[in-house]
Amino acid sequence: MSEINSRKDDHVDLAIASQHSLRDERFEYEPMYGVHPDFKPEPFIFLGKKMNYPFWISSMTGGGSDSKKYNEIFASVCGDLGLGMGLGSCRALLEDPSLIGDFDLRDLLGPHAPFFMNLGIAQVAEHIKNGELHKINDTLGALRSDGLIVHVNPLQEFFQPEGDVILDRPIDIIEKLKNTFLGTIVVKEIGQGMGQKSLKALNDLGIDGLELAGFGGTNFTKLEQIRSKTKGGEFISVGEPAVEMIKCLNEMKSSMDIIISGGMNDPLEAYYHQELCHNNSVIGQAQKVLEMGQLGKENLKAYITSFILKTRLAKNYLTIKH
Ligand SMILES: Cc1cc2nc3c(=O)[nH]c(=O)nc-3n(C[C@H](O)[C@H](O)[C@H](O)COP(=O)(O)O)c2cc1C
Repeated sequence: MSEINSRKDDHVDLAIASQHSLRDERFEYEPMYGVHPDFKPEPFIFLGKKMNYPFWISSMTGGGSDSKKYNEIFASVCGDLGLGMGLGSCRALLEDPSLIGDFDLRDLLGPHAPFFMNLGIAQVAEHIKNGELHKINDTLGALRSDGLIVHVNPLQEFFQPEGDVILDRPIDIIEKLKNTFLGTIVVKEIGQGMGQKSLKALNDLGIDGLELAGFGGTNFTKLEQIRSKTKGGEFISVGEPAVEMIKCLNEMKSSMDIIISGGMNDPLEAYYHQELCHNNSVIGQAQKVLEMGQLGKENLKAYITSFILKTRLAKNYLTIKH
């Protein structure tokens, strides 16, 4: 049987199963103007460095048993495609500089890609208190990284059995960091986003970038409660989704560079958020990148390539209703 005949038979067989009437109301579909998406790089500057595609590998591993393996997979995919990447928490590295091999990824990323170290607000506060902020600058230099992503995660810390206690207001700590840190500063939550007042305070401080890490994806308040076998699921439903944060940033006319993350695993979702966002922005993913990276570099690269192509498919044929 020819390929066409077999396809026509499939269509007849599957016509009933294909019935679907649930419509995505966010878009208008315009088939008359678009063409098939291509994968040509479209270079742009993000956080002062060059990227080819608006896709960011969000902060994950560091200091764990498989950290080096996964970090190298993430960094080499970023290097091949021209993406940006944030390391997972570098706390272990600051405590034990001999761990540098787990985090030393600049050669895999190449000189132009944005590459950021990562610390929790509690560790930044501790370094300030001990007069050791220079150690963070030293690590920045040793890693040849471009800056620091500071995660502000009070709910996770509270529910984590061995969590840190946040004693100083994060906004005051970040202000002090800004006065002494030599690289670019990005601030983020880790999956519950942040509200208007926090966003405005960061914008007013003149922070370079923000990772939204909005509500709706990986939820560390839930994760910690699963981990510690606590019943009840307290505080797991609070937080700010990326879409609300974007609307707020648009109203503020903020000029920060934005990593839009927090459950951005669907290309349509990603396209919608990027179109809505007036800032220079990229899409960030953590959990899905880890899942795909666990199956190896080529698998992750194929996943990201296909994701980018589908966001371009959306761009070529869909307009969003504002
Ligand atoms: C396994 C894992 C480890 C993470 N570790 C960190 C971390 O060390 N520092 C940090 O700022 N965020 C960390 N995150 C949060 C992510 O960077 C991201 O902001 C969040 O998971 C939302 O993205 P997602 O919904 O695509 O997972 C981690 C996420 C995952 C899944």
